[in-house]
Amino acid sequence: MKYGFFEDASREYVITNPQTPWPWINYLGNEDFFSLISNSAGGYSFYKDAKFRRLTRYRYNTAPIDNGGRYFYIKDEDTVWSPGWKPVKTPLDSYECRHGMSYTKITGVKNGVSAEVLCFIPLKSWAEVQKVKLTNNSDKVKKLKLSSFMEWCLWNAEDDQNNLQRNLSTGEVEVVDSTIYHKTEYKERRNHYAFYHVNAPIQGFDTDRESFVGLYNEFSNPQVVFEGKPRNTVAHGWSPIASHYLEVELKPGETKEFVFILGYIENPDDEKWESKGVINKKRAKELIARFDTVEKVNAAFADLKSYWDNLLSVYMLKSSDEKLNRSVNIWNQYQCMVTFNMSRSASFFEVGIGRGMGFRDSNQDLIGFVHQIPERARERIIDIASTQFEDGGAYHQYQPLTKRGNNAIGGNFNDDPLWLILSTTVYIKETGDYSILDEMVPFDNDETKAKPHFDHLKASFYHVVNNLGPHKLPLIGRADWNDCLNLNCFSNNPNESFQTTENQKGGTAESLMIAGLFVVYGRDFVELCRQIGKNAEADAAQIHVNNMVEAIKTHGWDGEWFLRAYDFYGKKVGSKENEEGKIFIESQGWCTMAGIGVEEGMCKSALDAVKRDLDCEYGIVLNNPAFTKYVVEYGEISTYPAGYKENAGIFCHNNPWIMIGETVIKRPDMAMDYFKKICPAYLEEISDLHKTEPYVYSQMIAGKDAFKPGEAKNSWLTGTASWNFYAISHSILGIKPQYNGLQIDPCVPPSFGDYQVQRKFRGATYNIQIKNGSKGFGVKRLTVDGKVVEGNIIPLGTANSLNILVELD
Ligand code: BGC
Ligand code: NOJ
Repeated sequence: MKYGFFEDASREYVITNPQTPWPWINYLGNEDFFSLISNSAGGYSFYKDAKFRRLTRYRYNTAPIDNGGRYFYIKDEDTVWSPGWKPVKTPLDSYECRHGMSYTKITGVKNGVSAEVLCFIPLKSWAEVQKVKLTNNSDKVKKLKLSSFMEWCLWNAEDDQNNLQRNLSTGEVEVVDSTIYHKTEYKERRNHYAFYHVNAPIQGFDTDRESFVGLYNEFSNPQVVFEGKPRNTVAHGWSPIASHYLEVELKPGETKEFVFILGYIENPDDEKWESKGVINKKRAKELIARFDTVEKVNAAFADLKSYWDNLLSVYMLKSSDEKLNRSVNIWNQYQCMVTFNMSRSASFFEVGIGRGMGFRDSNQDLIGFVHQIPERARERIIDIASTQFEDGGAYHQYQPLTKRGNNAIGGNFNDDPLWLILSTTVYIKETGDYSILDEMVPFDNDETKAKPHFDHLKASFYHVVNNLGPHKLPLIGRADWNDCLNLNCFSNNPNESFQTTENQKGGTAESLMIAGLFVVYGRDFVELCRQIGKNAEADAAQIHVNNMVEAIKTHGWDGEWFLRAYDFYGKKVGSKENEEGKIFIESQGWCTMAGIGVEEGMCKSALDAVKRDLDCEYGIVLNNPAFTKYVVEYGEISTYPAGYKENAGIFCHNNPWIMIGETVIKRPDMAMDYFKKICPAYLEEISDLHKTEPYVYSQMIAGKDAFKPGEAKNSWLTGTASWNFYAISHSILGIKPQYNGLQIDPCVPPSFGDYQVQRKFRGATYNIQIKNGSKGFGVKRLTVDGKVVEGNIIPLGTANSLNILVELD
């Protein structure tokens, strides 16, 4: 069943039934201030860091689900309702939620009153604006009582949830006119506060949760709202909230609009106070003044819209496949921007306290947004590289607020360093900005250890070379891309984390996935060295790449597919000799992307095995057969029930590696078929099974061995977004930025027909028309403004706009 529809012209997904199979959410904010918002207005806001600067409270994994948010209550005579259906859940006469590009508009209609709530974070602002529009469509005068509601989080989201002996005593607020200020801990070490304001006189307020909700009531029936009378409470400790109370009279046909603003302010130390104990509100007033009228809000909303028009104008596809167009042009690129902002920190599956920015995750995310915001991609690369160690190794994550690496979710993942070569080379190919290589970048955030960024890439490359095992294959360390293949962990204690527990020393577990990855990005390193004239460096590196290719062919081939690893004891993992886990996706992906043994038929054989053993109706599973027993020498992978997560789930992040591998051996139908299987736009009809949003990828879809194959989890924050965008835009549709120009190298099914791509690249607009052929790959003829160009790379030129015609074989 469907719960809504795509409206491509407005770039919105329109939800028409509030009872979606799971909360279907959106993200607001683009730079410093962010919010999560569900289709019934649940969610929370934070400044930069979902752990250290959480502004509003939200509860995860509760019953009912999705508890807490920016809620509005309308009391119309004896009926109380909310525009987003929740939290009151009074049946509405009509409901609609439009999730768009960094905004959400929720409209509820009840008894002749329509309430439209538009939420967004204006560009360059530390504030969420909520424009509430009430219209009386009945023929009677309506006397409505409108209450707003949100609950303050005491800044550190982790502490907020577990340090109750302290937190129930620290809460402090101030209320002045129509603004409620949250100033917990401001007196001491904090120089920031938050506020919630409405641009109209209020007839009351509440800031104490117990008084407002009632100790034994719920958000669905707050006692103050049902009594129709605020208590004007000022919170002292316990749980501070912010609720405005407004009496709104509407004549038949009349509309009134209100602007609510949730803002965040930082004050310099010497400007903290207005008078003793009274916070300095100057900056809050300035922020409020920017959005205190409907006109100003509308103008800010229009700016946000043009910001997105511009971002999405860099890569635009026109094909006969509507679902593909909407995925490529709108939602996939949008999701890439969200993963750029959040990494894996805050979603409805990630609580925003455990995981900051991942080293490997953020490098990979970059390939999905570098074309839109190259300057910010550059900054991100430098931030990540600054956390790297001198030997090329890496912290697995860093915290966005401090930009410092930490080991909170482990370290020694030996794939980590290589992803820095991916992000940097993709960035330079997109921009031509080689200066990033000369930028002085610290190691481990220590400025005294700064070296040119190029040296970081070299350290990444040699981290692999310096950590080879007995088969001359890369040592896996704690794990490679697959966090759960813990070959050195040996954990029998249920109270320790596989990610952080002390690894056993002395083993020689090796990874074929890192081996393939090294060949791909090792070659990129060599090519980069040549581009900048470091030929001796390139020659030296090439030898290591060649050696790795040989090591894979000699020790990494299982007869029909690539092995996955050698374990601690040197035994094969992912081999026909194994009882379970005979074949894994990751090494098939990376070794075929590297084209290893393509001449000898290895790539074809490996990809045929993927099709036979790993593919199913809903996508390609990670391994087969699934593990049914705990294998202590393999670790977390064998702890998941069969068919879920890393144990034979369809871990969507790695499916595009196979798609790209298929384009290496020129099987466009296979590549496109895999693409469509997991692309959410094609799954809208099966939302009841799929569960998560039909407009974004999920990390995992339950695999063929699962209890319920096809059910997705962990939507939004996943490397799936960028890799699928890369696979479709780059490898399948074939638009590939290179150092010396734009390469056109499609691999599309012949049945896909002709298509057009408009691509902005290095300051020019390329209008590319592709005339498909009987094979769907191989450029037969390429003309630029009518002139034939040899090969398939359009050289860089001076024109602002170019018309390109490509005929495929
Ligand atoms: C999950 C992985 C995740 C890791 C680190 C594991 O439990 O299965 O997908 O990357 O935890 O948080
Ligand atoms: C999720 C993590 O964020 C990512 O880094 C990892 O590669 C996958 N899980 C697979 O384990």
